[in-house]
Amino acid sequence: MAASFESPADPNRRRFLVTATSVIGGAGIVAAAVPFVASMEPSARAVAAGAPITVDISKLEPGQLITVKWRSRPVWILRRTKKQLAILPSLDARCKDPKSLQPQQLAATQNEYRSLLPEYFVVVAICTHLGCVPNFRPDIAPPDLGPDWKGGFFCPCHGSRYDLAGRVFNGSPAPLNLPVMPYYFMDKTTVRIGETKSGAHSNWRPETW
Ligand code: FES
Repeated sequence: MAASFESPADPNRRRFLVTATSVIGGAGIVAAAVPFVASMEPSARAVAAGAPITVDISKLEPGQLITVKWRSRPVWILRRTKKQLAILPSLDARCKDPKSLQPQQLAATQNEYRSLLPEYFVVVAICTHLGCVPNFRPDIAPPDLGPDWKGGFFCPCHGSRYDLAGRVFNGSPAPLNLPVMPYYFMDKTTVRIGETKSGAHSNWRPETW
């Protein structure tokens, strides 16, 4: 069953097809421990219009992923394990844009982890091909994804593959890495999504959004 995302601020923008089952599947591995998180939103209307949201991540365990919504789109916050972080550099040769040269992230997250802090990965959960929501697949070498799979995000619509830094692999129909939106840490366990600490995010102009 498919649903679609459409920005209320720009109804003519391209429609994002979102597979409802993939949302469930994507978060399903951790859903029992951390369900869809209710963030401290100013109001539904303000959030839909683009207001930043504040998310408490104090309960997030290593390896867990939560999904919040910002600008009507799903956003993932993944707390990566040391092992998951250690794998990322070994995947560079398999990525289309291993150094994150395309403007798909804040300048401050243009690093090997595509994040402000290595441990926490914050990213828009929309495939850059045609807008489905990929599945979170942290398992190593599962039968359906093959022996080379080191954990990542798999888009069920047309098979695009991303690593746990949202970098798309060669051979995927998706052209670009997952977009990393403006965010910052208000403190160790509180993330502000939708703006930088200075309030500016003029350097964020992703190709897909
Ligand atoms: S929408 Fe993800 S691969 Fe096509």
